[in-house]
Amino acid sequence: MNFALILAGGLGTRMGSTQKPKQFLNLGNKPILIHTIEKFSILNEFEKIIVLTPKEWISYTKDLLSDYNFNNVVVIEGGELRISTVNKGMEYILDNYDDDDHIVVTHDAVRPFVSHRIIKENIQCAKDYGACDTVIHATDTIVESKNNEDITDIPVRDYMYQGQTPQSFRLDKLKFFYDNLDEDEKALLSDACKLFVLNNERVHLVEGDVSNIKITHPYDLKVANFILEEYND
Ligand code: CTP
Repeated sequence: MNFALILAGGLGTRMGSTQKPKQFLNLGNKPILIHTIEKFSILNEFEKIIVLTPKEWISYTKDLLSDYNFNNVVVIEGGELRISTVNKGMEYILDNYDDDDHIVVTHDAVRPFVSHRIIKENIQCAKDYGACDTVIHATDTIVESKNNEDITDIPVRDYMYQGQTPQSFRLDKLKFFYDNLDEDEKALLSDACKLFVLNNERVHLVEGDVSNIKITHPYDLKVANFILEEYND
C-alpha cells in the first residue's frame, strides 16, 4: 500500500508568525496545509494520508479539515525533529496495518505546489529503487565553508542539486535504518535520504520543479501567492 506522510510538525519560527505555525497560514483563500493535502487526496493512490502536527495543534487541524471533504486523511502527533515526525508516521502505519511492505511518500506540508507528476514518479521510483529524492539542478554555484568564514570547496555545479520533497521510501528499509541509529545520530540526521546513502543504498533522483518551493520566510509566502495567481490551476 502507499501512504502519504504530510510533515506539518514544525513551528515555523523563521516565518515569524506569532499566531500559528506557517502551515496554517492562508495562501489565497485557504491554508497552505489544505492546498498540500488536496494535491495528494485527488490522486486516489494512497490508502491513507497521514498529517503530522505538533501535539497542541492536533484538534485545531482536525477542526480545519472537517470543513473539507477528505475521506482518507488522519491527523496524528508529529515529533520534535523532522526525522522523528517521519518516524511517528511509520509507527502509525505499523500499528494499524498488517505487514511492512509499504511505500511512504514523505512531503513538507509547506510545499503546496507539488505536482501530480512528481508524486506519481515518487511512488514508482520508491517501488523500483527502494528510495528516491525530488531534486532540481543547482542554478547558483554551491560554495562550501566548513568554518562558516572561508571557502573550503566549490563543487562542480553540474553534479549539484537542490533537494525538495517528496522523498519516498520502502517503509521496511527506512524503519530498519532509522531504528539502528543511536539517539545522538538521530539528533544529527537532517535528511531521511541520507540514511540510505550512509547504508550504501541507492537513492534515485526524481526531477522536481522550480515552482515546488518551500515556504520558509515571509518573502516565500508572497512568492507563493504570486505562483498561485499566475500559474496554478
Ligand atoms: N516539520 C515536521 N516536524 C518537525 C519539524 C518540521 O513535520 N519537528 C515539517 C514542517 O512542518 C515543514 C517541513 O517539515 O512542513 C519543513 O521544515 P521547515 O521548513 O524547517 O519547517 P519548520 O521547522 O516549521 O520551520 P522553522 O525551521 O523556521 O521553525
